[in-house]
Amino acid sequence: MKILVTGGTGYIGSHTCVELIESGYEVVIIDNLSNSKIEVVERIKEITGKDVKFYEGDCIDKSFLIKIFSKEKIDAVIHFAGFKAVGESVSNPLKYYRNNLDSTITLLEVMNEFNCKKLVFSSSATVYGKPKSLPIKETFPLSTTNPYGTTKLIIEGILRDLYNSDNNWSIAILRYFNPIGAHKSGLIGENPNDIPNNLMPYIVKVASKELECLNIFGNDYNTKDGTGVRDYIHVVDLAKGHIKAIEKILNENGIDAYNLGTGNGYSVLEIVNAFQKVNNVKVNYKIVERRKGDIDACYADPSYAKEKLGFKTKYGIEDMCIDAYNFAKKFKEDN
Ligand code: NAD
Ligand code: UD1
Repeated sequence: MKILVTGGTGYIGSHTCVELIESGYEVVIIDNLSNSKIEVVERIKEITGKDVKFYEGDCIDKSFLIKIFSKEKIDAVIHFAGFKAVGESVSNPLKYYRNNLDSTITLLEVMNEFNCKKLVFSSSATVYGKPKSLPIKETFPLSTTNPYGTTKLIIEGILRDLYNSDNNWSIAILRYFNPIGAHKSGLIGENPNDIPNNLMPYIVKVASKELECLNIFGNDYNTKDGTGVRDYIHVVDLAKGHIKAIEKILNENGIDAYNLGTGNGYSVLEIVNAFQKVNNVKVNYKIVERRKGDIDACYADPSYAKEKLGFKTKYGIEDMCIDAYNFAKKFKEDN
């Protein structure tokens, strides 16, 4: 079975390639390297001891995609390629609509032409907007608070329209909660070039003394200690969820959305404290104003993914903190 992974050198894509290869799938990666490095391909080979094909190119480029589909007999696609920075999507919405929507529509057109109708799509818990209650079920109403989220919601709609027009499609929409951590080898992980927006990469840079102090955005939320609560999921668990989704779409037609989270909510302070404890390192922090658009708490009801996909997470918050820091330390040594 040959799986095309768009955005396969990115953070979640690279971990998913490793899990796919280790589960016996052949993997073909395409990525335009707009937010990842070519070295990741070698790292994937190093971890798995297997070959992986890599094509540098853009999913918006139809002739490029046609070339790949003509050359490789693709059985299914996992579509990670896209931009993901919420703040940037607010300041530059057209960049997000152009890249995320065009790349998906072009990919779907080419898949249709080549009669490859099996797709796993990376959506996000952001499509639940401000949930009215917790934990979040897949049946909750959908809404968004920023252009990035809107691209995900629009694409979910496009995929449903596509399936309604042709029931030969088989599509799994995966709504990720907050992926953190890295592969145990320390060879692949999340490595933002700029100052990170998200919590774990920021903590890692403070612990590594690359940044001075973590700003905790508010301690007056309606949560256990006043800081924001999220459902952090180890990226390797998340990657394994894609194998479950691939198995599902290879075996039956249909379209469905699944939450990929653990069902546990941790506050910012709990994460900071766990990180300090397991890594025996100091993380300086101060409480600052709330970040605009943040919600008090967000965590998944993971029971539907468990029932329909057999998806279960294995790693806890300690592993997530150890593996994130291990990757950062190793990366620093190697560069
Ligand atoms: P990432 O930026 O590390 O990976 C995305 C990859 O896609 C990058 O390697 C980038 O170079 C590539 N890419 C972007 N546009 C492309 C295009 N037009 N053609 C070819 N390649 C292109 O991001 P990630 O964290 O691995 O996220 C993967 C997917 O999961 C994204 O769609 C993202 O929106 C979604 N997602 C991520 C999170 C998260 O917290 N990381 C949460 C929910 C959903
Ligand atoms: C982010 C995305 C969201 C996506 C989700 C899952 C933003 C604004 N939102 O959400 O679209 O669906 O990831 O991947 O990027 N925090 C601090 N200090 C920091 C950074 C974060 O206190 O420097 C706090 C936040 O207020 C929040 C928690 O840490 O309570 C997690 O923040 P973050 O990692 O950015 O993820 P989300 O906001 O949940």
